[in-house]
Amino acid sequence: MKVAIVYDSRTGTTQEAARAMGAAFRTRGDEVTVQSVSEADPAEVSKADLICVGSWTQGLFIILQHATRATMRFLESLGDLKGKEAVVFCTYKLATGSMLPRMAAVLERKGARVAGQYKFKGATPTGDFMTYASSS
Ligand SMILES: Cc1cc2nc3c(=O)[nH]c(=O)nc-3n(C[C@H](O)[C@H](O)[C@H](O)COP(=O)(O)O)c2cc1C
Repeated sequence: MKVAIVYDSRTGTTQEAARAMGAAFRTRGDEVTVQSVSEADPAEVSKADLICVGSWTQGLFIILQHATRATMRFLESLGDLKGKEAVVFCTYKLATGSMLPRMAAVLERKGARVAGQYKFKGATPTGDFMTYASSS
């Protein structure tokens, strides 16, 4: 299976999480790309079987959390995702509000089935993500 992981990271945490996610998918035999939102080509990413998009959490820590503008722009720029699986993720310190459902809604509008919404307090993917990534 082809997996495309795209992230927006300000200080490296989300990049590190994205790379760890990529390593987990490679362990189950997937072909994985891990790129930042500025590097990734939306048309290429749209061709993957599984599309994972992640952002650091931006907001006022306990309110008004959102994905970065670059992340939302990237999500909007993806093509038709009918038949594709998708995952959204973020790293955060305190609270993420409704940012993950809002990211997922864009992917669902494009036809993807969003299989997971994961938040990581730091750069280490959580156990529920690892369980998802180890299933085929
Ligand atoms: C300007 C700014 C706003 C932030 N707002 C939030 C927030 O609303 N909620 C939260 O849990 N973390 C918030 N954070 C923390 C970051 O989302 C968190 O440290 C993240 O892991 C950083 O990822 P990065 O290293 O990939 O940039 C904020 C950080 C910054 C710099």
